Amino acid sequence: MPSYSEIKLANVVAVAGIEDTAEFAKRWNISKVYHGEDAIEKMCRDPDVDVVDIGIPNNFHLQTIITAAENNKHIICEKPLARNGTEAKKALEVVEKHGVLNCYGENQVFIPQITRAFEFISSGAIGKVTWIRAREAHSGPHSKWFWDPNLAGGGVLSDMGCHTIEAVRYLVNKKKPTEVAAWTATLVHKIKGEDNSLVLLKFEDGSLGQCENSWSAKGGFDVRLEVYGSEGAIFIDATRETGIRLFTAAPEGRSGYVVEKADVGRGWMFPTWREFETGGYMYELQHFLECIAKGQTPRETFRDGYVVNQLMDTAYEAAQQKKWIKTSD
Ligand SMILES: NC(=O)c1ccc[n+]([C@@H]2O[C@H](COP(=O)([O-])OP(=O)(O)OC[C@H]3O[C@@H](n4cnc5c(N)ncnc54)[C@H](O)[C@@H]3O)[C@@H](O)[C@H]2O)c1
Repeated sequence: MPSYSEIKLANVVAVAGIEDTAEFAKRWNISKVYHGEDAIEKMCRDPDVDVVDIGIPNNFHLQTIITAAENNKHIICEKPLARNGTEAKKALEVVEKHGVLNCYGENQVFIPQITRAFEFISSGAIGKVTWIRAREAHSGPHSKWFWDPNLAGGGVLSDMGCHTIEAVRYLVNKKKPTEVAAWTATLVHKIKGEDNSLVLLKFEDGSLGQCENSWSAKGGFDVRLEVYGSEGAIFIDATRETGIRLFTAAPEGRSGYVVEKADVGRGWMFPTWREFETGGYMYELQHFLECIAKGQTPRETFRDGYVVNQLMDTAYEAAQQKKWIKTSD
């Protein structure tokens, strides 16, 4: 909503949720409120709604996409597109069948430093890309459903591996990886899924994507990228080199919200501001709405979400088999 409130094209007319969304609607001045078991169906039938933006647990993505597409709504879906490649394929098929525009909500590829890195790579500033290291880590998710692989689709490899995999794909201009290797481990939390993962993507030209993810990394939200090329390198630290550092010995709580998953409220911290912008969300939604208004295909579609889900499925298989696995065509 902070993003939508700053996008001129956006007019948020309704909100639907399983819980009572009235307070949310009031806070953001949204006129229509749907809640309860059939909230999504009702909202998708609303003729005032042109676009449905899905930001609910992963186990409800596919059914919501089907309902929205059958009602001819354009769709934005938060990452990951689905719990696995099979579900993601169905999601892709249904939007293609109904001819609705589909936008895959991967914010990382709209983070200003990452889009700038893409420009440098495209202009040849670092020569031939050889190795991309992408890391997204924090100490663990905020809602219970994330911890259940049946609802989420997996552990951290699925929840945050989708970010690092897509960041790497974006920076290699959506080249197809030929082979995948992976390691997963449950090192800290008592959960069914993995809380740490590493995915290696090998591309046709021999270059490597290294996707590191953790749900047990302390010290606040960590988003970093290193891109190495034959003639240069790019380093991004999107969450800790924010230009401001705070040290506070005052009682916890005085500094308020500092950064996502800050872990502590005292000592040295790396504050963020306008997270909805610096995290790429505002630029992402602006791009999606502009494309929808013009009837154009956005630069992140459900096809990208499907490819990411497929790569994650292959990564889980590779981790289990402890070997490189070739990707399917
Ligand atoms: N791009 C990103 O950086 C990013 C960050 C966080 C979450 N996400 C994605 O957004 C989605 C939601 O995550 P979250 O962190 O907001 O989860 P959350 O648990 O904080 O919130 C989920 C919301 O969905 C509602 N809900 C649950 N089941 C529902 C149903 N059947 N119908 C309608 N509403 C329902 C809940 O009441 C709650 O308000 C997930 O797919 C997640 O992966 C993306």
